[in-house]
Amino acid sequence: MSPLINRSVTALMKKLTEQYQSGQSFDIYAFLKRFTMDTIWSCGFGLDTDMQNNPNDRYLIQSQRVFSAECFLMIAGYETTSTALAYVSYVLATHPDEQLKLQEHIDTYFNPDTDNEIPSYEMISKMDYLDMFIRETLRMYPIIPAVINRQSTKDFQIENIGTIPAGTIVSIDMYTLHFDPDLWGPVDPNTFYPERFATKRHPLAWIPFGIGPRSCVGMRFAMMEMKLVLACLLKTYSIIDCGEQTYQATDQLEETAVISPKNIIIRLQRRDEKTV
Ligand code: HEM
Repeated sequence: MSPLINRSVTALMKKLTEQYQSGQSFDIYAFLKRFTMDTIWSCGFGLDTDMQNNPNDRYLIQSQRVFSAECFLMIAGYETTSTALAYVSYVLATHPDEQLKLQEHIDTYFNPDTDNEIPSYEMISKMDYLDMFIRETLRMYPIIPAVINRQSTKDFQIENIGTIPAGTIVSIDMYTLHFDPDLWGPVDPNTFYPERFATKRHPLAWIPFGIGPRSCVGMRFAMMEMKLVLACLLKTYSIIDCGEQTYQATDQLEETAVISPKNIIIRLQRRDEKTV
């Protein structure tokens, strides 16, 4: 794994350890945003930032100008991945049985002799259930559901609707696709069930990263970044819900570049800790 991303993960884990030691509930989303910001600045632009310890870093300030200058790579790589990780954190906190299953899966890949090391790219690539867990989260919480638009270059027919003239902008309804029981059954698509990805599905049934020649160029990077953080976090900690504070996260969504919760308030518990 790139030393640049390893440094961002190490900084994040240090901050999360401090939060654990404080024993208080906290907004994990804020730390995830700083993590993805550090990662994109370092891996995408070769800049040395430390948002975890210096949230007023000049690069963060400058990023506001970068956004207004429409630097798509920056916004695409920062807000998307942190928001996806925020939803995974929410799912983990609110589905403790699913969290345990994922932790047991991750455990099978770690060598106790090198337990403190950041997992390698090869090791992360083998974590297939972790992959399915993230995919299922993005199926249920597609963070940019309205971004996939295409303009038709010629007239075409849709059965029972009629002719769609050339030049029409066509938007994909991602929620209808992602919750279609014919595409995702037999387990109810409203149930969080990562195993459904073990079955081969229609190639257009899951499109949180878009589809076709203009689909997301950062998909592989984002998936790897998310897996790395989750493997490091879940081998040591469990994410614990803080009742209403956690559950209300998805009642108060904000729509900017992505559809995101305001915060994800949780508590961390060490897995070797006996009492809750
Ligand atoms: C969970 C994380 C991410 C999600 C859900 C996501 C989703 C998307 C979606 C839905 C599109 C539009 C695709 C289409 O119209 O078919 C897109 C485009 C794009 N994404 Fe991502 N993205 C993520 C992370 C990233 C990262 C980390 C980067 C860069 C490092 C990135 C760079 C881009 C770029 C450059 C495009 C435009 C591609 C084009 O127009 O040809 N994305 N992304």
